[in-house]
Amino acid sequence: MPPNATDSTFNSDPEGNVNNLKSVDEVPQAAVANTESYSLKIFQSSLNLLAHILIGATVWISILYSFRNGLPLGATPLHIVLCVIGYQLLMGEAILSLCPHNGWSASLRLVDKRRAHTVLQILGSGLAIAGSIIKALDKSVNWNTLHGQFGLVAMVFTSVCLVNGLSSLYAFELRKCLPGNLSKITHICFGIVAFGASCICLCYGFDKNGFKNWSTPALAYTSMGFTACFTAIIIINPTITFFNKTLRVFKK
Ligand code: HEM
Repeated sequence: MPPNATDSTFNSDPEGNVNNLKSVDEVPQAAVANTESYSLKIFQSSLNLLAHILIGATVWISILYSFRNGLPLGATPLHIVLCVIGYQLLMGEAILSLCPHNGWSASLRLVDKRRAHTVLQILGSGLAIAGSIIKALDKSVNWNTLHGQFGLVAMVFTSVCLVNGLSSLYAFELRKCLPGNLSKITHICFGIVAFGASCICLCYGFDKNGFKNWSTPALAYTSMGFTACFTAIIIINPTITFFNKTLRVFKK
């Protein structure tokens, strides 16, 4: 087929031949279900793509702002670069790596998905905690702004999440002293809180006058919208897993 020709089979159902059937009554239930699950998959993959684009845009805007005066970086720009790359880029990708519809990790085996998640989580948490500590040490009065307070919540939950992430990884080996479900459920819960708090903290960061004067208020509010949107997409899957696992424990 020439490269510019249209493939007429493209619009038909990938599993069955729903489009070739004569009447709706003839469409078998399985084919309807397939079409529905196909649409759902397309929707989930599109949300995943949107999350990646928004993470890229938000991290890029923050990096441009941090490097506006060139090198060397002061304490504030350095904390922004470390926190945004740590939380939004690496921790965001770490959470997405376990999602079944995530583009780059979909074809990885479960064991490799877990490895990717662990490496990204350790790297991201390390950078984010370092960035928060650098700025906290640079200030004489600490935790006196909402931005700083949400940054502290994110830092504390990230540290706890790192520790019980290891116990979830070795849940099988530790099953005698620690119920496997408990460490997994708390790991998911702490991860959601840490990532959510870092999102709120970043939005308060974009609300600072320094950022608004550099970028214009419109771009600052757009960046907040982007952050809220990709955070919601990223935490949907772990939130569902959290409720399912918790329900299963209570049903036992
Ligand atoms: C996820 C991203 C971010 C995290 C986790 C974070 C975290 C923190 C932390 C922990 C502090 C120290 C608070 C204290 O000791 O009282 C701080 C201070 C500060 N951050 Fe961020 N930050 C982030 C992004 C940003 C962004 C994007 C900006 C600006 C565009 C920014 C600007 C500032 C400024 C100006 C301070 C000093 C004033 C204050 O404490 O509110 N931060 N940040």
